[in-house]
Amino acid sequence: MRVLRIGGALAHGGAGREEALFPKTRLGVLVSGRGSNLQAILDAIKSGTLDASVEVVVSDKPEALALSRVSKERAVTVERAPSDFEEAVALELEKRQVGLVVLAGFMRILSPAFVRRFAGRIVNIHPSLLPSFPGLRAQRQALEHGVKISGCTVHLVDESLDGGPILAQVAVPVLPGDTEETLSERILKEEHRLLPKAIGEFARTKIQKIMVSA
Ligand code: GRF
Repeated sequence: MRVLRIGGALAHGGAGREEALFPKTRLGVLVSGRGSNLQAILDAIKSGTLDASVEVVVSDKPEALALSRVSKERAVTVERAPSDFEEAVALELEKRQVGLVVLAGFMRILSPAFVRRFAGRIVNIHPSLLPSFPGLRAQRQALEHGVKISGCTVHLVDESLDGGPILAQVAVPVLPGDTEETLSERILKEEHRLLPKAIGEFARTKIQKIMVSA
């Protein structure tokens, strides 16, 4: 029997082999720092749980540890004045024919023009249960509000700050005595599970939509 692989899911076919019906999702990952979420994506690809490829990692900071997690050819730093920064990033992503842009610890706000250019194809991971605590230091905001449950969210990026449609969330308890560091660490562990899973599910859903409308 032949097996057709539809973006990671298996579909039946005819002659005892597996065949990719759609190309795997080509990812462009935007980072500013450590890149542990990027590493989680790379690990999921390596272990075969995520059917995707990281085509390029773009950082706005040359010292970002994230850049060292991929080969030199795939690691790009864009340091430009705000006016040309986004154009340079967009050209990098387009040159590598990226299908999905992942913001993984990317510390800049993207303009409406950039978001429209990649409309419906940008996802972000945020360390709170959105819509609570958008913006910076979400874990500290959660502690200051005294919430008992926080978590992390993967959402589509629109023109608002951390406000686009939610794709996936995981709840994480806030424990007595938690500091910003201990809570961040507990949430981060869940981010590493959630992000690759959400990317895979999002890609599969998009492919199903294409198939239904074809
Ligand atoms: C993560 O907590 C992510 O949710 C937030 O920034 C942090 C990035 O961590 N947006 P890393 O660079 O992926 O290690």
